Amino acid sequence: MIFVTGGAGFIGANFVLDWLAQSDEPVLNYDKLTYAGNLNNLTSLNHDKRHVFIKGDINDNAQLLALFFEYQPRAILHFAAESHVDRSIHGPAAFVTTNVNGTFNLLEAARSYWMTLEGEAKTDFRFLHVSTDEVYGTLEKDDPAFSETTAYAPNSPYSATKAASDHMVRAYHHTYGLPVLTTNCSNNYGPYHFPEKLIPLIIANARAGKDLPVYGDGLQVRDWLYVKDHCTAIRRVLEAGKPGETYNVGGWNEQTNISVVHTLCDLLDELQPKAQGSYRDQIKHITDRPGHDRRYAIDARKIEKELGWKPQETFSTGLRKTVEWYLANDAWTKQVQSGEYLKWVAMQYEDEDEV
Ligand code: NAD
Ligand code: TYD
Repeated sequence: MIFVTGGAGFIGANFVLDWLAQSDEPVLNYDKLTYAGNLNNLTSLNHDKRHVFIKGDINDNAQLLALFFEYQPRAILHFAAESHVDRSIHGPAAFVTTNVNGTFNLLEAARSYWMTLEGEAKTDFRFLHVSTDEVYGTLEKDDPAFSETTAYAPNSPYSATKAASDHMVRAYHHTYGLPVLTTNCSNNYGPYHFPEKLIPLIIANARAGKDLPVYGDGLQVRDWLYVKDHCTAIRRVLEAGKPGETYNVGGWNEQTNISVVHTLCDLLDELQPKAQGSYRDQIKHITDRPGHDRRYAIDARKIEKELGWKPQETFSTGLRKTVEWYLANDAWTKQVQSGEYLKWVAMQYEDEDEV
């Protein structure tokens, strides 16, 4: 079986659902269920014996060890993290606790378990660490895209803690020989995306008749990948990646934020028109994020050439699927917009003057 951390979050849940749609190999899904973890993402697996869910914190060494020895996973796929840049600016401590200390603790537990394995079980074991392109910092307009050899230069507390975790993963390979793999992926979008992040927030706010908040001039660039393409890349790296290597994952799809917001408004105008006017009328430019990275872009040639991975969705097909999913899943959005979420919106967006 495989052991997945953070499998109730956005990417982890998509990964678990896709994994079990394609394979009968069971999944042990280990998740703390923070505000971002949601078992409603996995209701289709409620009576599926191939999915075992355990609520737990990656900082709990004793529980991790007990589970590893009981279930004997052949691989650990590490998705669990605090993942929202704006939250890391308001409160970085949780990011250090989970992303740095938690990853260290998970590595320690994995190493203790792995050391007891023998023969093929030991050589075939994998620790796959799911990371981000944000560890590379920011690009100027004409800079080449981030490759696996680009120097790390994280700028936010989120990206700094992910960079620290990447370094620990690397060190566990070089020092102890733990067979690790790291993926550094660009911005994901798709079903089950928590509506604090740009794309689901814009869809939810547009439909609720609220402002569509665009930070600063909206000309910051992100490289967007449909979440299911990220999941395929992770499965491919697990299957054929070389231990100790890192793989950049991206869709060659750079977009300015304002262009993403315009496209979302146009899709909504088509699929669920307002009584009057366009959703674009709700756009509001607000104060920029402190230290906001201007541009991310991924050079995905290594994973394409060495592992034969390519994304299936274009931005146009993926974004349409995403908007259609949100239109069909109102109940999901309403459920996640809980009390805790509302407190976040009040802290982050209230009293914002237009700029
Ligand atoms: P998410 O915030 O939606 O989900 C994170 C999950 O981890 C949640 O289910 C949460 O409950 C769980 N979790 C948090 N702290 C935990 C702890 N201490 N112990 C156990 N579980 C804990 O995040 P996501 O967007 O699904 O991202 C998953 C991973 O992919 C992260 O490591 C993130 O850095 C990375 N990543 C995300 C993106 C993106 O665009 N979202 C892009 C590249 C890489
Ligand atoms: P986000 O989805 O938070 O991802 P990340 O910061 O990890 O790239 O944000 C994507 C981009 O959208 C980023 O440049 C910040 C911007 N943004 C807004 O303009 N308004 C918003 O309300 C949010 C949440 C993000």
